[in-house]
Amino acid sequence: MADSDPKPDQNSVEPPDNQIQDEPRKPDAAEGADPVQPSDQRPDVSELTSEISPDNQDAVHEFMAEAAQQNEAANEAVAEGAGGDTPTSAGAPANGDSTPAPYIAFEHIYKSFGDTDVLKDVSFSILPGETLCILGRSGVGKSVSLQMLMGFYKPDKGRIMVAGEDICGYTEKQMQEVRRKVTMVFQNGALFDSITVGENVAFPLRERHDLAEDQIQQVVRGLLEMVGVAGMEDLLPSDLSTGMKRSVAIARALASQPEAVLYDEPTTMVDPLMGHLLGNLIARLKTQLHLTSIVVTHDMRFARRLADRVVFLHQGEARFFGTVDEMDKSDDPVLKEFLELDALVLPV
Ligand SMILES: Nc1ncnc2c1ncn2[C@@H]1O[C@H](COP(=O)(O)OP(=O)(O)O)[C@@H](O)[C@H]1O
Ligand SMILES: [Mg+2]
Repeated sequence: MADSDPKPDQNSVEPPDNQIQDEPRKPDAAEGADPVQPSDQRPDVSELTSEISPDNQDAVHEFMAEAAQQNEAANEAVAEGAGGDTPTSAGAPANGDSTPAPYIAFEHIYKSFGDTDVLKDVSFSILPGETLCILGRSGVGKSVSLQMLMGFYKPDKGRIMVAGEDICGYTEKQMQEVRRKVTMVFQNGALFDSITVGENVAFPLRERHDLAEDQIQQVVRGLLEMVGVAGMEDLLPSDLSTGMKRSVAIARALASQPEAVLYDEPTTMVDPLMGHLLGNLIARLKTQLHLTSIVVTHDMRFARRLADRVVFLHQGEARFFGTVDEMDKSDDPVLKEFLELDALVLPV
């Protein structure tokens, strides 16, 4: 069992190539990989930033709009790539001509630890900008799946595609590049313990080398307000509750302007109010930032609200992969039992 979450030094970010430029350029939809547009044509992210205090709001709005714009362009570029034979719904192979290519795909993944076969021929995918919820009982391989995406474990067999590339043979250096695009919010936050909350969030901002100190401070304070832990920048991670650490981890993830975020049970072991806040935040991030997301969750209400698709892992297999509607209509007795038991625990 992977008890301790890896530290986030591998999440380091360097300045993206696609920084804001002063010269306004002609917007061209065909230029998928180049997101630069005049700032007045930036995506609207006001739902995310509307409650941030006036001192920090402009800086965060600009920062988030830049991220949303980069993600829109990246999603478009990935979607236009080759579809391959990745399944986009239960049993239905993608048609490379008409179906957008996925942002993330597991293709026939096998993974064992010693004699324990954790994943056996597991396939699922996530389209750019979509949210996949991974469901399944404890110990079924949900966290291992996320950790394989981050390159902490390698599959024994199969391909894992991220933004059109098979990452399975990647070196640690190449994985660091992948982790600039895909970042993970660990259950315990995996914050740097010895530096303040504010410096944790500032970490990816400082690595860009293009932001002035006052901008960094405004973005840090504004992001902390956005994730519900306003004014906590001078505390140490050890001063925070589990839910607050997770909020700070989300703020730090956002500071690196990722294209995709992986959340491991974000609403587990937090009080209901914090769970609600984190759930709302994840939902708004998805739509406003055009983030591709994977959410491992036990909370079916949360899954129903967020998921474009769900994958249900059971005894090493992707027992179900499809939309929430398809899940509700499924006749699979194992899936039905899982959903019924969940409904008993969490009455809707
Ligand atoms: N590093 C490891 N060494 C050996 N077994 C592991 C390791 N990490 C996970 N496992 C095993 O893999 C299985 C899936 O674990 P995990 O993905 O953490 O489950 P969950 O679905 O609850 O997140 C479990 O049986 C777990 O004990
Ligand atoms: Mg887990």
